[in-house]
Amino acid sequence: MKNKNTKPASSVNALWGGRFTQGPAEAMARINASIDFDRRLWAQDIAGSKAHAAMLAAAGIISAKDCQEIADGLDRVAEEIASGDFPFRAEFEDIHMNVEARLAELIGEAAGRLHTARSRNDQVATDFRLFVRDAIDELDAGLVTFQRVLVDKADEHAETVMPGFTHLQTAQPVTFGHHLMAYYEMAKRDRGRLDDCRRRLNECPLGAAALAGTSFPIDREATADALGFDAPAANSLDAVSDRDFALEFLAALAIAQTHLSRLAEELVVFSSAPFGFVRLSDAFTTGSSIMPQKRNPDGAELVRAKTGGIAGAFQALLVVMKGLPLAYSKDMQEDKVPVFRATDAFAASLAVMTGMIADLTVDAEAMAAAAGGGHATATDLADWLVRALGLPFRTAHEVTGRIVALADGKGCALADLTQEDMQAVEPRIAEGVFDVLSVASSVASRTSFGGTAPERVREAIALAREELG
Ligand code: ARG
Repeated sequence: MKNKNTKPASSVNALWGGRFTQGPAEAMARINASIDFDRRLWAQDIAGSKAHAAMLAAAGIISAKDCQEIADGLDRVAEEIASGDFPFRAEFEDIHMNVEARLAELIGEAAGRLHTARSRNDQVATDFRLFVRDAIDELDAGLVTFQRVLVDKADEHAETVMPGFTHLQTAQPVTFGHHLMAYYEMAKRDRGRLDDCRRRLNECPLGAAALAGTSFPIDREATADALGFDAPAANSLDAVSDRDFALEFLAALAIAQTHLSRLAEELVVFSSAPFGFVRLSDAFTTGSSIMPQKRNPDGAELVRAKTGGIAGAFQALLVVMKGLPLAYSKDMQEDKVPVFRATDAFAASLAVMTGMIADLTVDAEAMAAAAGGGHATATDLADWLVRALGLPFRTAHEVTGRIVALADGKGCALADLTQEDMQAVEPRIAEGVFDVLSVASSVASRTSFGGTAPERVREAIALAREELG
C-alpha cells in the first residue's frame, strides 16, 4: 500500500522524528501504536519517571529546578489520567511517549531532560515489572481471601461425609471438609509460585538504557531502591530483553486457574440434580429462559472456560519470545495484552470462586447416602481381614471382591449382609467386621497424617488458620 502520509515525521512525532522525512503509513501507525492497551501502565510509568528524574538530579545530571518541574508536571499528568481528562493520542504510540509529550506541553523544555540516560527499552521493562509485581500482590490478597473461605467452609464440614472419588467412581468415604482443604493446599502452592516469581522479578532494569548502559554517571541503586526493587538488574542486555518474569507469572496463573477450574468442574457436577450434594446461591447461578426449574452454575462454567484464555496467554507470550535475538525487539510490545488478559481473567475467576464457596450450602444427607453407596467401605473390609485374620492384603482384596459380588447379587450394601453371608466366603469373619463397614467409622479410622478423619481435618484447619494469621 502506498503511503499517503507525507507529513514530515518530526511534526508527527517530535520524540523520534528527527531523521525521518515522512511519517508512518496509516497501517504502520496502527500496528505500531500500543497506547490502547499499555495506557494501563500509566501509574508505573510515572512512578518510574519520577524516580529516574530524582536520581538524575541527585547525580548532578539535571538541575534541581528541572527535576522539580518534571516531578510537578508528572503529578499533573497523573491527575489528568486519573480523572479521565488526559488526551491519549495514538500518534504518540505508547504510554511512555504520551506521558512525555504531555509533560512537554505542560512544563516546556525541562520535559526534554527527563529522557537523559534512559531509553523506552529500560523504561518499559521497568514499568512492566512494576505492573506484574502489583498484580501479584493483589492476586495474592485474593488468594488469601479464597483460602479463608475454604477453611471456614471446611470447618463447618469437618465431619460431613461424602464419597471420595477416583475416576469419578465411588472410592472411599471422605469428609467434605477434607475435600475443601485439598484446595487450600493447592492455593497455598499457587501463592508460593507467585511469591517465587515476585522475588526473581524484583530487580530494576532502569539505567540499562537502550541495551548497553549509559555514559552518564547514574546511580542505579538509587532508582532500584526508590521503586522498591531489591537491586538493579545486573546485565543491561538481559534487563531490557527478557520477559521471563511475565512468563513465570503467566505460568503460575495458568496453574492456579487450573486448580480453580477443577473446583469449578466439581461444583458443576456436585450441584447437578443427580448428585445434589451442594446448592449454589442465587448470586452465582442463573436461570433458564425456557426451563423454569433450572439453576445453572454459569459462574463455575465461566471459571472453567477462562482457563483456556489464561493457558493461551502463557503460550502466546512464550511464542512471542521464542527466537528473539538480544536485546530488545518490537515483538516484545506484544507482551502486555496476554498479561493483562490473564490477570483480569484470574482475578474475576478468583472472586467468583470465593463467593461461590462462601455461599454454597451442603445437602449432608445426600452426601452421606452417596458415601454409603458403591461399596465405599470395601477397603475397610479388606483392611479388617488383614488386621483381624492376618490375611495378606492381596488375599483380603480378593475375598472382599467376592463379598462385594455377593452384595451386588443381593442388591444390598456391604453392611446389610449378614455375618453368615460373609462367612460363606470366609468362615473366620467375626461380628466385629460390622464396626468398620459404616461410612462414619471408615472416615474416623483414616487417622494417618493428612488423612480424612475429622480429628485430622480439624488439625489441618487449625494449622491453616495459623498460616493465614
Ligand atoms: N511501546 C514499546 C513496548 O512496549 C516501548 C519500547 C519501545 N522501544 C523501542 N525501541 N521501539 O515495547
